[in-house]
Amino acid sequence: MADRVGRPAFLSRRDVVRAGVFTGAALALPLQRWASGQSSTSRRIGEAKLPAPYSVPFVRPPVSTPVRVADGVEYHRIVMAPLQTEVLPGYRTTLYAYNGSVPGPTIRATRGTPIVARFINRLPLMHATLKYEPYTSVHLHGGASLPQYDGYASDITRPGQYKDYRWENKERSRTLWYHDHGFHHTAQNVYMGLAAQYHLLDPNDAALGLPTGDYDVPLVITDAMFERSGELLFSLENEKGLWGDVVLVNGRPWPVMRVARRKYRFRVLNGCVSRSFHWFLDNGADVTVIGTDAGLMPSPVRTRRIRHTNGERYDVVIDFAAYPAGTRIAMRNASLKYNDDYTHTDKIMMFEVVDDAFDPSNNSVPDVLAPDNPVMTTPVSRSVRTRNFRTERQGGEWTVNGNTWQDVIDSGFRFTEARPVHGTTEIWEYQNNSGGWAHPMHAHLIDVRILSRNGRPPYPYEVGPKDTINVGENEVVRVLATFDGCGKYMIHCHNTMHEDHDMMTQFEVVDPAHAAPDPFSAPAVPLPELPL
Ligand code: C2O
Ligand code: CU
Ligand code: CU
Repeated sequence: MADRVGRPAFLSRRDVVRAGVFTGAALALPLQRWASGQSSTSRRIGEAKLPAPYSVPFVRPPVSTPVRVADGVEYHRIVMAPLQTEVLPGYRTTLYAYNGSVPGPTIRATRGTPIVARFINRLPLMHATLKYEPYTSVHLHGGASLPQYDGYASDITRPGQYKDYRWENKERSRTLWYHDHGFHHTAQNVYMGLAAQYHLLDPNDAALGLPTGDYDVPLVITDAMFERSGELLFSLENEKGLWGDVVLVNGRPWPVMRVARRKYRFRVLNGCVSRSFHWFLDNGADVTVIGTDAGLMPSPVRTRRIRHTNGERYDVVIDFAAYPAGTRIAMRNASLKYNDDYTHTDKIMMFEVVDDAFDPSNNSVPDVLAPDNPVMTTPVSRSVRTRNFRTERQGGEWTVNGNTWQDVIDSGFRFTEARPVHGTTEIWEYQNNSGGWAHPMHAHLIDVRILSRNGRPPYPYEVGPKDTINVGENEVVRVLATFDGCGKYMIHCHNTMHEDHDMMTQFEVVDPAHAAPDPFSAPAVPLPELPL
């Protein structure tokens, strides 16, 4: 079983340091190989070869159809394999795809109907240029999955293996996403394309009259850099992050979307490895935020700009009714600190209003959305303790309270950062004392409410159920969480470059009445597949 955790195959960096075998320069080698030294940005394709912003048509990701429905369970089958596709017009790029699509197919789940999703790893034994083994682990981000189905980073599926994930879909409606979480290679696997949206729908929400169907649109925003050949370029800035000069929406560079004169719901996901956005509409109009990471807000919030960091989702409604056909409204990016910006990274996509006929139903936003979500109503006085999580750079690595995922591996997965008791409520305080970077912190399993940023109220548009919290430079952000479920779950920075090197640790929800399920209790199995 040793290979499932990777310990024998991967020399612990810390052990090497402890043994004093190599110099720091030698330790840095694998990363330099990834970045191809200093020359990476010089191999970048010329800007003149990129498509003009707002010239490529917008597309929606496909929707996953179940291969079988039986006994109230939906079965999906998703193959992870390389894909050669045209991202930049006239060039071919190799990506890693879920069922031949980047982003992968949107899974549309219904509250109360479990899904079993089989993920089959048909990736090569070795990444063609980065020379790592693309083992995978699939995480449903935003779901309260059991530990063995949560994409535990070391519960890997190697090329030639598959694993069935069971997701119960008991949560309230929300926009989730599923993405790769293989330990120390999450950034590479996600950058290669292993990410997609997952919509948990609740028929009870239909009465709200929010835009649905064609007017409920996923926007997966990512960034990338390309070699002159058209292949992806992995430009690495000392483990601080990976930034591209091309902004992609649903895999298309700065696309233009034709919109009818009515309201649309956009489920906006920042799926970038490192880039954060501060986005707005260039005509100065407000957007109406209706949902945050973990579901509908108590009531809608109008805002002009949204700070949007890695892993966060904002569900917004934009109303195009007032604009004459031909109006073009750009979604632009004012950027946040600590991004590497390029000529066109201030642009995201374009909406072009057309006079097409449209379905006028479900074209409203009520004043009250989800006022009764316990995440938002649980009083702070219920908290039984406050825990502090320091995000820091230590000994050349990103850490949480000085700890890394390698420490978790080295402990035989016994080390835990916190052991909250099932059913209790706690205040968690994320602290970033260091200047120079921000950390979007994500704890699995739990939905949280932001209580304060440096003692002040959160931004109005983040007063909703959340699971990923940006912790800016010199910020202390306090959140309130109630711990349902039980077992071990990861906490990490969602700048996946930080996550991989190695700002990830774990907590364990302890239920005195039950033994916790082991994250390794449903290991991947070798192909060929058994019937699903
Ligand atoms: Cu979206 Cu642990 O990740
Ligand atoms: Cu998650
Ligand atoms: Cu970080």
